[in-house]
Amino acid sequence: MRLVLMGPPGAGKGTQAKRLAETFGLLHLSSGDIFRAERAAGSELGGKLAEYMDAGELVPDEIVVEVMARAMTRDGSQQGLLLDGFPRTVAQAEALDAELARADKPLDGVLVITADDDEIVGRITGRRSCPDCGRVYHIRFMPPTSDEQCDDCGTKLVQREDDVESVVRQRLENYKRQTEPVIRYYRERSEAPVKEVDGNPPPDAVTESLADVVREISSSGEAKA
Ligand code: AP5
Repeated sequence: MRLVLMGPPGAGKGTQAKRLAETFGLLHLSSGDIFRAERAAGSELGGKLAEYMDAGELVPDEIVVEVMARAMTRDGSQQGLLLDGFPRTVAQAEALDAELARADKPLDGVLVITADDDEIVGRITGRRSCPDCGRVYHIRFMPPTSDEQCDDCGTKLVQREDDVESVVRQRLENYKRQTEPVIRYYRERSEAPVKEVDGNPPPDAVTESLADVVREISSSGEAKA
């Protein structure tokens, strides 16, 4: 099964993608996580990515498509796939369609998590993440057991450079301008069903709704191995 997970910044894509990937045995590929790993490695590409990400701007399509195609070929050839944060422009969606068509492995579904703007800003400014294992927390909604330390590996938690309010507002604006047209693209030009899930309720309730939708897609008989 191959799924795309979309939604505005802070809607809960990363949180939910990890849970869905585990439940349904899918490979989770997050463009944001892949870019942050590249930055942490200190490569020339990582330096270029940082300029766009810290300003809340989208990374140019040609860079995104190349990096994601490489990750999909390297990691995703056999397993089912859950793409998180990619595609984020219509050009990226077209490139992904072409890549999947070449492999004769079309998309089975597009999941869209929705959330209100004010909820999003509160979530993102309160987010903390583990720089080592990537686990994501929220200082109020999903706090770590011990102050500021990762429950899994004990590493000191950090706030992302792009998680300040002014940058979040910019990311939200970009989402509306550049990424919402991707949802229209899938509705109009793809056979993969587009399913919206309300991301405002608490995390476990959102997980349940998403899992129901994935089961529905999977049992529709259209999902291919
Ligand atoms: P990326 O890392 O993908 O950021 P994003 O899309 O802005 O999404 P976030 O990671 O901020 O939020 P999320 O939806 O994953 O929410 P989370 O689960 O963490 O991209 C970063 C940057 O990389 C982009 O700005 C861009 O520059 C670049 N980039 C990436 N992909 C690109 C592409 N395809 N093209 C071009 N550029 C690209 O949750 C957020 C917080 O809320 C957490 O603290 C969490 O604990 C909490 N939370 C989650 N769910 C709930 C809930 N239901 N209730 C209460 N709290 C919750």
